Amino acid sequence: MNKSEVTELFKQMTLAEKVGQLVQLTPFFFEAAEGQGEVTGPMAELGLTEEHLYSIGSVLGTHTSQEVKEIQKAYLKKSRLGIPLIFMADVIHGYETIFPIPLGIGASWNPKVAQEIASWSAVEASEAGVHVTFSPMVDLVRDPRWGRVLESTGEDPYLNSLYAKAFVEGYQGEAESLHENFKKIAACIKHFAAYGASEAGKEYNTVDVSTLELYQYYLPSFRAAIDAGAKMMMTSFNTVNGIPATGNRWLMKEVLRDYLNFDGMLISDWGAVGELISYGVAADGREASQLAIEAGVDMDMMTSNYAHHLEELVTSGAIDQNLIDESVLRVLHLKNDLGLFEDPYRGLNQLAETQTFSKEIRSHARRLAAETVVLLKNEQEILPLKKEQKIAVIGPKATDQDVLGAWSWVGQTEAAVTLATGIKSVAKETLVVGTKELTVFSNEEQAEMMAAATQAEVVVLALGESSEESGEAASKATICLPDAQISLLKEVAKLGKPIVTVLFNGRPLELAEVTEFSTGIIEAWFPGTEAGNSVADVLFGRKNPSGKLPMSFPVVTGQIPVYYNHLNTGRPLTSDNQDQKYVSRYLDIPNDPLYPFGFGLSYTTFELSEISLNKKEIKAGEQLVVTLQVQNTGSVKGTETIQLYLNDQVSQVARPVRELKRMAQVTLEPLEISEVTFELSVEDLAYIHQDLSLSADLGGFDLFIGTSSLAPKVGEFHLIK
Ligand code: NOJ
Repeated sequence: MNKSEVTELFKQMTLAEKVGQLVQLTPFFFEAAEGQGEVTGPMAELGLTEEHLYSIGSVLGTHTSQEVKEIQKAYLKKSRLGIPLIFMADVIHGYETIFPIPLGIGASWNPKVAQEIASWSAVEASEAGVHVTFSPMVDLVRDPRWGRVLESTGEDPYLNSLYAKAFVEGYQGEAESLHENFKKIAACIKHFAAYGASEAGKEYNTVDVSTLELYQYYLPSFRAAIDAGAKMMMTSFNTVNGIPATGNRWLMKEVLRDYLNFDGMLISDWGAVGELISYGVAADGREASQLAIEAGVDMDMMTSNYAHHLEELVTSGAIDQNLIDESVLRVLHLKNDLGLFEDPYRGLNQLAETQTFSKEIRSHARRLAAETVVLLKNEQEILPLKKEQKIAVIGPKATDQDVLGAWSWVGQTEAAVTLATGIKSVAKETLVVGTKELTVFSNEEQAEMMAAATQAEVVVLALGESSEESGEAASKATICLPDAQISLLKEVAKLGKPIVTVLFNGRPLELAEVTEFSTGIIEAWFPGTEAGNSVADVLFGRKNPSGKLPMSFPVVTGQIPVYYNHLNTGRPLTSDNQDQKYVSRYLDIPNDPLYPFGFGLSYTTFELSEISLNKKEIKAGEQLVVTLQVQNTGSVKGTETIQLYLNDQVSQVARPVRELKRMAQVTLEPLEISEVTFELSVEDLAYIHQDLSLSADLGGFDLFIGTSSLAPKVGEFHLIK
């Protein structure tokens, strides 16, 4: 349809039909409604009638193309104007083939990994009839107690922005071609805004960030996603400036629409319109609906508030009909952008062959997961393993197929490749002993694990969390491995054999003891369907690890939030005042994390040299060009991520001690040298001032270049008039 045809259609709609378009429910309601004389079950509980159901705008969470086809067909039969439903789902790190969790994707430090994963996810999701994914989550995160750090790409606004763009491009392709490119789906960015700052890392908790902080650190990734053409946005559950986001007019109008120029469709998070009542900012569903629609929330996910109250709010004059009209038009335009008016099934009826869970997609999953693995420790060059070695793979995650991660509701756990299977496919003689539980081991299991370790030359100890322990509604007050796992590590260490600990987890963990007792440590995250194969590729050196941490790993939980781009304080701890009392520090723990942001080892070594700047002073309109040479000084091919950080020496607003501004990945053969060039302009020096304007302050900047956020200072330059 062209735009005027959409307008024509819109003009024919009654107010009730318009309101219907703004409601989203699960497929469950259709199952309940079909073929029933009277309405019972969930529909009755929400006070919804069949008439309501067959006028809704969208369905979330279908599982199969069959289900989508049936619901769409039944719906269209009863829809007066034949406006198709739009189907949405949480496709976060794969649909049926599961890829690594987003935090792992963040660890690739390679936006192309995100783009490819999003692209394959779109292929599978579209084959299942999904039109929109509730992804990417672009929230900045600093608190690993919050289980949803699993869904983020980490603590840095610049890195998050690169990934936000890459995910959107991967899902949507050319946003203008979605109406004909049915292998692509629309992206819904979430959660607007600042959800990552949930107080104390507790899920569904309040947030209090300053407006300056919001603009400076939390909004850039949203802007990047919007600029990349993201079609939708989801509100967050939390408060911003004291008002829950879903009813926060300032946030949605001034910030999202006006400041970030978002003109796509805005949906509430699940039940969030109703939660305005629980928050105590609305007395009832009517008030909640009024607050949300006035804030510009176009669609109500999974409550009946819009369905029950919007019509009356208009007819009684409480709200302006224009509000409804604007929202309905956004919904219709999105449907039109997806080609649903021409083909409500988006090609499903013509789909002869599917690619879902194909060998090809799984091979990509294997390759891409290996990109996300971070080598945290490698003493005695214990890694890579040699297949001739006598290896024992033991521990609670050794034979555990729970390696998909939290958002894998369609992915089959039974199809996941375990670590033991992956290792045995390379080293057939490997001894394997797993456990049933993650937190307690039977005497028999313990004895068998110790016996296997005793016989081995090297022990691969698989530790970690269950998928349930991170993700939504999975906050934790302490982020340690279970005692049983640490005791097992210590017992094995007594044998004096080298131990390679492989970790499967969805958040930064406390790893002090794991570090002390392990010879090598592999952070594998939740790698997805091909887990065991990907990790084995790294363990045996078929893939030289190149991952870097996208989030700092604290020494202990009490150190949280600990993130590299923190502000200075009036009394910073420095190398010169370590013994002084009145400085910003803890008495009992260090200030620095155990493993810093940007850190990750390789099986080879790299040397950076000849770093030079083309000038010492730059002005608006000029480019600062930084060049350097990188050499692979080891004996195997490898990939290194060169990171460039800046510090604003004197600024009007206190600024981070350093901020990532550029990064580049280089893959080099042994002894190969490559030149890396970074270009910076005044825009890269700009930051949000107290009046929320964006500009750079004249003066000096320190330049740090290296292979983690501990990169040394390599120079400085000045911004001049
Ligand atoms: C609640 C979550 O917060 C959100 O991220 C998700 O997309 C929705 N549920 C829909 O499942």
